[in-house]
Amino acid sequence: MSDHQLRVSKIRSGTVIDHVPGGQALRVLAILGIDGTGGETVSVAMNVPSDDMGAKDIVKVEDRELSQAEVDVISLIAPEATINIVREFDVVEKNRVVRPEEVHGVLQCPNANCITTEAEPVESEFTVLREGVRCVYCDTLLREDIAQYIQ
Ligand code: CTP
Ligand code: ZN
Repeated sequence: MSDHQLRVSKIRSGTVIDHVPGGQALRVLAILGIDGTGGETVSVAMNVPSDDMGAKDIVKVEDRELSQAEVDVISLIAPEATINIVREFDVVEKNRVVRPEEVHGVLQCPNANCITTEAEPVESEFTVLREGVRCVYCDTLLREDIAQYIQ
């Protein structure tokens, strides 16, 4: 897409999460804990035509870089996403997300009887599968809306 067709402006500095599956941008924002009340400057484009994906979403968060844990969870809902770090208007780093084999201490198991949800200091641990993520301790499988289980 040429510059004069840009739907949302370029940013001076921050992070652009590109190639998010169409319709998933609000989930990406949920993963980042952004609901607007924190005052972050955020631009979102949803269901933009994309040559390689059909339709894609783009999330631009100004003046913020993402933690590895955040990127790991984003990869669960946006396996093709690219994380672009922008400084002084230039993309200085571009990384495709990598689906981790496991995520530790990022998601909260919804099973009230799971050892990770009791007072014990046991960190949550989920195995990443094609169909979702599975708790290593109680085998609970989370298939949908994984963002809602973020600790
Ligand atoms: N971008 C931005 N602000 C900038 C620079 C880039 O918002 N100052 C956005 C672009 O609009 C694009 C993404 O960051 O959505 C990646 O930019 P760039 O690497 O320039 O685009 P492409 O080459 O098309 O990226 P890719 O090859 O990953 O599709
Ligand atoms: Zn569990």
